[in-house]
Amino acid sequence: MKDTEYYLQAESPAFILNQELLEQNLAIVDEIQRETGVELIFALKSYGLYKSFPIFQRYIKGMTASSLNEAELANEFFEGGQIHSYAPVYLPKEAARIFELSSHVTFNSVSQYLANKDKYPQLQGKSCGLRINPEYSEVETDLYNPCIKGSRLGIRCEDLKRLPEGIEGLHSHNLCECGAAATANTLQNIEKLFGEFLPQIKWLNLGGGHLFSSAGYDLKLLKDTLKSFKAKYPHLHIILEPGAAFVWQTGVLVAEVCDIIENSGVKIAMLDTSFAAHMPDCLEMPYRPNVFGAGYAGEKGYDYYLGGCSCLAGDYIKDYSFAQPLQPGEKIIFADMMHYTMVKTNMFNGINLPNIYILHKDKKLELLKSFSYADYKSRL
Ligand SMILES: Cc1ncc(COP(=O)(O)O)c(C=O)c1O
Repeated sequence: MKDTEYYLQAESPAFILNQELLEQNLAIVDEIQRETGVELIFALKSYGLYKSFPIFQRYIKGMTASSLNEAELANEFFEGGQIHSYAPVYLPKEAARIFELSSHVTFNSVSQYLANKDKYPQLQGKSCGLRINPEYSEVETDLYNPCIKGSRLGIRCEDLKRLPEGIEGLHSHNLCECGAAATANTLQNIEKLFGEFLPQIKWLNLGGGHLFSSAGYDLKLLKDTLKSFKAKYPHLHIILEPGAAFVWQTGVLVAEVCDIIENSGVKIAMLDTSFAAHMPDCLEMPYRPNVFGAGYAGEKGYDYYLGGCSCLAGDYIKDYSFAQPLQPGEKIIFADMMHYTMVKTNMFNGINLPNIYILHKDKKLELLKSFSYADYKSRL
């Protein structure tokens, strides 16, 4: 049986993680680490399905956290390991515990570092770093570009005359779903703008956005780039902390068609899922998720908009085409629905969250979580 047939057995709406596909990505993570001597940790913000973290534990030694909740979760799985924290600002009520849980703490500004360093005994023995802004990015959407003019993320070179005492690392995050050339160009810019500091630090964290598990990615270029950078600065511990690349194309969202309606000649398939509540990135970024077996309008014969079940007027995505007319009761499968989906879902309109399943390697489909009125009520 094909994996899609297993997916269709899930009670919709449902996120389904495919373990076999996850392990394929983790094998690439392993290869990069082994061949380059660079360490990869996982950016928790992209995906929090902790029931799958025992699989991650076999390949990596740590995670990066951007809040107290993420630091607590990272600590449950990597206690005593690499827990890198970075937040644009550490909230006073969370800071002490975050520092206690972390092995490495990156500050977004010199003022945050100076204000926290003597105040919190929890920072003693922790390796502190600063986030730099490499003033270079290939990200076209401003929402995801930390290097736009006026960005609040990272210190620009002109504002960092010298490293404050106690700083052991630098952290740069400027990419989003980028190829290997963008990593190479970033390193060139870091050397150009912050090169004088590289001999003074112990570690360099190159953030996320390296999409090495996607089709067409030049993995050799990434490995060669990292190897030659490491050869040039052998004292530096180099870290990458991608999120999306770990779980890229490793799972789906199954939804059911509940009704077909028509407006001005446009057919709309009304679903039991919502773009606003269950796939908010589709509207935020925006992007059009692929649906298994569907093409663009005009390609397959039967064209539809896909309508979400919330009341938001914009909760729909246009221009899908299917080979057969869609029928109420039929399920459709959205592709690549693991990164930045489950962690961003919300209960707008009181719409329940999708079930969460894992398709194990032995093709056993296991329900990991389902949600109820208690979950909705407990949040408010
Ligand atoms: C500081 C930092 N590190 C890592 C990541 C992970 O990026 P990605 O999931 O694109 O690899 C992000 C994403 O926003 C980030 O802000």
